Amino acid sequence: MSIVAPSLLAANFLKLEEECKMVNESEADWLHLDVMDGRFVPNISYGIPVIEHVRKATNKICDVHLMIEEPGSLVPALKKAGADNIIVHWETCPNLHRNIQQIKELGMNAGVAINPHTPVFLLEDILADLHHVLIMSVNPGFGGQKFIPHSLEKIKQLRKMIDEKKLNVLIEVDGGVTVENAKDLVEAGVDVLVAGNTVFSSENPMETIKKLKQFSR
Ligand code: DX5
Ligand code: ZN
Repeated sequence: MSIVAPSLLAANFLKLEEECKMVNESEADWLHLDVMDGRFVPNISYGIPVIEHVRKATNKICDVHLMIEEPGSLVPALKKAGADNIIVHWETCPNLHRNIQQIKELGMNAGVAINPHTPVFLLEDILADLHHVLIMSVNPGFGGQKFIPHSLEKIKQLRKMIDEKKLNVLIEVDGGVTVENAKDLVEAGVDVLVAGNTVFSSENPMETIKKLKQFSR
């Protein structure tokens, strides 16, 4: 069964406790937390103080997606705030290996995200060090965007790369994931489905999470 990670960006920020409770009671596995800086991406979401509170309200794995420049500077504070997974963007890390080591040395799982224009082959020499790769299937910065179809091809390429190297790296997809396209994504090789609006804007979020979970490869 796929791992489902609702993205809190699409939640009602006035009711974060209730939203966390819903996720806790659902079949979701991870809670995806998007941090933005208004520089790497043209939007600002939330940061450490919010994550600290969310951590206390959730029993799910906190998967923090850093859409910020110089992400290394926030990593120790995120560890303190209770993050389990930290994802940095390939595009923001000229010393990516160092960033990955820093996350792992602090006892967290390290992931790398790639933007829609960044080819999968650029991960060749870092793949074995990773817990997961996040394929951005929209341009980062906003929820509720349309899935970019070429992402499916990238997922297949990455799946092949991971399998050929006999690695255990998970593939996560983020942006425009719906109950309708989830089957194709999982069949192409996705392990982790991030879903923001599909979950939080649906009439029955818990049921939607259940539907997303049913796909397996
Ligand atoms: C976008 C974020 C996503 C976002 C996805 O930059 O990384 O996690 O919340 O939202 P949906 O699922 O609505 O496309
Ligand atoms: Zn995200």
